[in-house]
Amino acid sequence: MRLGSCIAVEAVAFVVVLGGLAIGASSVMAELRGPGAEPRRDVAVTMRVVPPRPVAPPPPVSPVAPPPVSPVAPPPVSPVDPLAPVWEFAGQPDEPLLAPLRVGTPVKLKVNRGGTSLSMRIDFDNGARAAFKPDQVFGQSNPRREVAAYRIDRLLGIGHVPPAIAVSYPLDTLVAAAERNPEARARLRDDTIPRQGRLRGELSWWIPVLTDGYIGAARLDSTDGIVVWRRWLKAGATIPPERLALCQQLSAMALFDFVIDNTDRWTGNNAKMSEDGTVLYFMDNTLAFGKNPAGHHKTLLYLQRSQTFSRRLVARLRALDRAQLVAVLSTDTGDFDALLTDAEIDAVLGRRDRALAYVDGLIATHGEAKVLAFP
Ligand SMILES: Nc1ncnc2c1ncn2[C@@H]1O[C@H](COP(=O)(O)OP(=O)(O)O)[C@@H](O)[C@H]1O
Ligand SMILES: [Mg+2]
Repeated sequence: MRLGSCIAVEAVAFVVVLGGLAIGASSVMAELRGPGAEPRRDVAVTMRVVPPRPVAPPPPVSPVAPPPVSPVAPPPVSPVDPLAPVWEFAGQPDEPLLAPLRVGTPVKLKVNRGGTSLSMRIDFDNGARAAFKPDQVFGQSNPRREVAAYRIDRLLGIGHVPPAIAVSYPLDTLVAAAERNPEARARLRDDTIPRQGRLRGELSWWIPVLTDGYIGAARLDSTDGIVVWRRWLKAGATIPPERLALCQQLSAMALFDFVIDNTDRWTGNNAKMSEDGTVLYFMDNTLAFGKNPAGHHKTLLYLQRSQTFSRRLVARLRALDRAQLVAVLSTDTGDFDALLTDAEIDAVLGRRDRALAYVDGLIATHGEAKVLAFP
């Protein structure tokens, strides 16, 4: 009896150890895949395929009773990786914001103002709200790129693109939701590209209150505004403490927009802020991700308006590789074949190289302390 119970105890311990190793390995990939990756299901599957190895010969039995084995597996020890994605939007976790969008049914539809492409607002039956960009006749606006921008923003630890997922709805559901809005119905009919009765698109979590971006009394995108923040972002400049946070966000925005190739940021209404002026939102990225690895002169111009950057963001860009991009873009793809094509991913890496060459040139001239002056 005693021999039998010892074998049983050791078999349990063996399964627990193997299970713990499997959890550790799967958690690394799950961290990259992020929201929507359902890591708990991975764990359950992995645990099930580890056999208890009943045919192995029993090891010699020690006369001393083994220490009691806890039946509960210890939590996986995940080393803190400074380069792991951060799934947060201006400090709050993304997934609670996205969860109601994943399951809601659209009940009300309205057309958003302010742009040249088709952007709508959806209210859901569960009370959630989102901005919706569908596949549309304005070919320059491609919804999958908004989701790609969101996921690359989190991979780089920036946290300023509103959380986004790819979705697909029966066209009838959207038409019913637009029942009381003739303009929305007409735009659905004339400007969208449904496939087999369904309309693909992206949802971005709806920011309840937005205001135009200002620095002091000047609009961020006005000549006066640009002159001000450009002066403060020169290498070695002294930034007034009350403008420091905004200058850091503008610097990150310029670097991000160059890497993702967003030429639309400064054309109007795409550099908005929170009501209290503390958070800059990196919104409307559907025009990004051109295939030119050298980048666009418009985004280069804005990048060159900054000579001061975040040390952490530059480190993440240096560490960025194709495998990380592929992993982070593999979740929440909806009915799209992929969020980015291979050529678009290559171009991101090419622009990353060019951005780092610019930063390294500044470091050679001004010294690292002045160029990588933001944390
Ligand atoms: N996630 C969002 N939260 C709140 N308002 C939004 C959101 N997305 C878009 N909007 C509103 O809709 C307008 C148009 O959206 P935008 O994404 O800029 O599309 P367009 O391509 O038409 O410029 C924005 O200026 C903003 O007022
Ligand atoms: Mg816009």
